[in-house]
Amino acid sequence: MAIFPYLLGAAAVTIVSGSQVALPDIFPNLAACVNEPAIYSCENTTTIQNTCCSPSPGGLVLQTQFWDTYTGLEKNGQLLPKNSWTIHGLWPDFCDGSYTQYCDLSRQYDPAPSPNTTNGLPNGTAVPAYIGPGVDTFVLEFGRIELLDYMNKYWVSQGSPNNEFWAHEFSKHATCTSTFDTACYEDYKEHEDVVNFFESVVRAFQMFPTFNILAAAGIVPSNTTTYTLAQVQNAVKAQTGATPFVGCGGNGTILNEMWHFSHVLGTEQYGRFKSIDSTTASTCAAEGIQYLERTPTSERDVRTLPY
Ligand SMILES: *[C@@H]1O[C@H](CO)[C@@H](O)[C@H](O)[C@H]1NC(C)=O
Ligand SMILES: *[C@@H]1O[C@H](CO)[C@@H](O)[C@H](O)[C@H]1NC(C)=O
Ligand SMILES: *[C@@H]1O[C@H](CO)[C@@H](O)[C@H](O)[C@H]1NC(C)=O
Repeated sequence: MAIFPYLLGAAAVTIVSGSQVALPDIFPNLAACVNEPAIYSCENTTTIQNTCCSPSPGGLVLQTQFWDTYTGLEKNGQLLPKNSWTIHGLWPDFCDGSYTQYCDLSRQYDPAPSPNTTNGLPNGTAVPAYIGPGVDTFVLEFGRIELLDYMNKYWVSQGSPNNEFWAHEFSKHATCTSTFDTACYEDYKEHEDVVNFFESVVRAFQMFPTFNILAAAGIVPSNTTTYTLAQVQNAVKAQTGATPFVGCGGNGTILNEMWHFSHVLGTEQYGRFKSIDSTTASTCAAEGIQYLERTPTSERDVRTLPY
């Protein structure tokens, strides 16, 4: 129990009177979208009038993932999920691959923005550090224990507590994603956009099972084998139809990132994703790429834990 303290917090939410507690809904109001033309983001932007219905601008959607071999917070029980890459985020690039960030400082929950970070406005306001309850408590406010559980398993930070990483991803990126604007929610309840974003990130991540796609093509972590960039790109392209961004550290030799690009029909929350080729060149060498095995004490088998 000690390494899953959020379960204790969750108990306080669910055991209120011993009877069923009605949980608040977290839906954007998309009633006005049902008669809009069904088009993919970035493919006919002139037709997108209601930006709650389709991510605009920012319709090139990136589901980004990491392959880390350690977290640095193993002693706190922050471990990587065996046989899976981990979530980085869900980013709203402009259609050409450029982007903006921290678009709504009234929803700034990042406790540690990088030094000299500014928002995306022309005058570039500095992004202040957030001081307040962690975003994990927002998830519990909505009773979403199962979502928090999944996030702690698969949305794992390196070098910072998971909830600080989630806050960073929301405030830097989701505030620039039109379908999570607070105006898209009828009777907006504070933080419902945050929780709705988190569940949307999980859904998008599940569309791109990078570990399984690579393993099924014979590309598995190994401290003795190397792979070519084309092997990695082609294995993914064979399943998604598009070339992802493949990122490497160690001067291009250590595989550590993948970004899956999409255009989206409908919303990021519930819509259809269509894979698009990366607009960013790979940072990996053409060959000699290591896909490192993790340190065994840095990972856990998330499928067998007795939750
Ligand atoms: C964009 O959509 C509108 C209708 O919604 C259509 O008239 C127009 O031809 C489309 N443009 C392109 C480039 O497909
Ligand atoms: C990258 O290459 C440079 C030049 O060869 C070298 O000095 C540096 O140590 C290398 N860095 C890593 C992380 O391998
Ligand atoms: C594989 O190599 C990495 C990098 O040296 C190391 O951190 C890791 O522990 C190794 N994994 C195994 C299973 O030996």
